[in-house]
Amino acid sequence: MFKIGNVEIENRIVMAPLAGITNKAFRSMMKEFGAGLVYSEMVSDKAICYGNKKTLEMLHVDENEHPMSMQVFGGDKESIVQAAKYIDTHAQCDIIDINMGCPVHKVLKADAGSKLLLYPEKIYEIVLGVVEAVSKPVTVKIRLGYDQEHINCVEVAQLIEKAGASGIAVHGRTRAQMYEGKADWSMIKKVKEAIHIPVIGNGDVKTPEDAKRMLEQTGVDAVMVGRAALGNPWIIQQMVAYIEHGEILHDPTPDEKLDQCLDHARRLMQVMPEKMAISQMRGHAPWYIKGLQSSAQVKNHLTRIKSYHELEAIIEAYRIYLHTQDRTWLEKVIQNLNQ
Ligand SMILES: Cc1cc2nc3c(=O)[nH]c(=O)nc-3n(C[C@H](O)[C@H](O)[C@H](O)COP(=O)(O)O)c2cc1C
Repeated sequence: MFKIGNVEIENRIVMAPLAGITNKAFRSMMKEFGAGLVYSEMVSDKAICYGNKKTLEMLHVDENEHPMSMQVFGGDKESIVQAAKYIDTHAQCDIIDINMGCPVHKVLKADAGSKLLLYPEKIYEIVLGVVEAVSKPVTVKIRLGYDQEHINCVEVAQLIEKAGASGIAVHGRTRAQMYEGKADWSMIKKVKEAIHIPVIGNGDVKTPEDAKRMLEQTGVDAVMVGRAALGNPWIIQQMVAYIEHGEILHDPTPDEKLDQCLDHARRLMQVMPEKMAISQMRGHAPWYIKGLQSSAQVKNHLTRIKSYHELEAIIEAYRIYLHTQDRTWLEKVIQNLNQ
């Protein structure tokens, strides 16, 4: 257990914010798989201020998600503060997080995300402004620095703490590294040693053993898991069991993976139109079958599904193939869908 401000977090495995993925259906699922804390996708401060309908819908939190953190991104203090105030009073989240790690151009162009790492004084002003304006605990997600020549996470973390934040998540890469190369946990350790508020370590945590190693090597309060949970929500409960009780849980069976894939689609359809849910499943479904027999060919078809019916037909035909090793049924279904 650890605490961010007054928010108690049951265990030390945190599901990372992932744009386009960590909507409320996904977050609820991750909670059921044992995540101590979940984050929303990043939400634009400006879009909140303009009252953009789709963006305001992103602020909705389901009852079973708590504790959850709503992440906002933006490049200027005034609009981040205004958006944070709105979140504070209108969203049922427990924590407000500010994104200072996003490396994509669209976000950098607005001087937001990891661009802010180049301006530590501005970071201080923004965090101070938000902390003073809201009643919920405020956290910040950062990277090691903008690039190899500007590694400043320790200085930035100290300023964030000084401004009154209740916690920090550190992704052990620079902006320039994007999502490539090895995450540098030694810098995460330096951040942890330099401040007194909780630190969540992030980057290259893929197995229960990784999670334990990061906790031990860096001393962080919790670890944050992103891509390893895609198509594999079981990894969350495996990590929790391993770090909390030294217990090794079995991997899911192929049938469990296929069931979960369909369950995921149905959860998405409960919170968005089928078309949008299926468009997201074109990404998720191949992740669920990764590593299973002949998954490459099936993946091709999953990336083109147009409805839940098609997804189910392929998954069920694939299930029969996995059980019987007889390809005819799978090929027939795929042929029918292609017509
Ligand atoms: C598709 C994708 C979307 C992401 N979206 C966000 C986001 O909205 N906010 C954020 O702070 N980080 C975002 N990240 C970064 C992750 O939260 C995390 O820091 C990164 O993936 C490293 O962790 P991992 O190695 O466990 O995946 C995103 C990463 C990916 C791959």
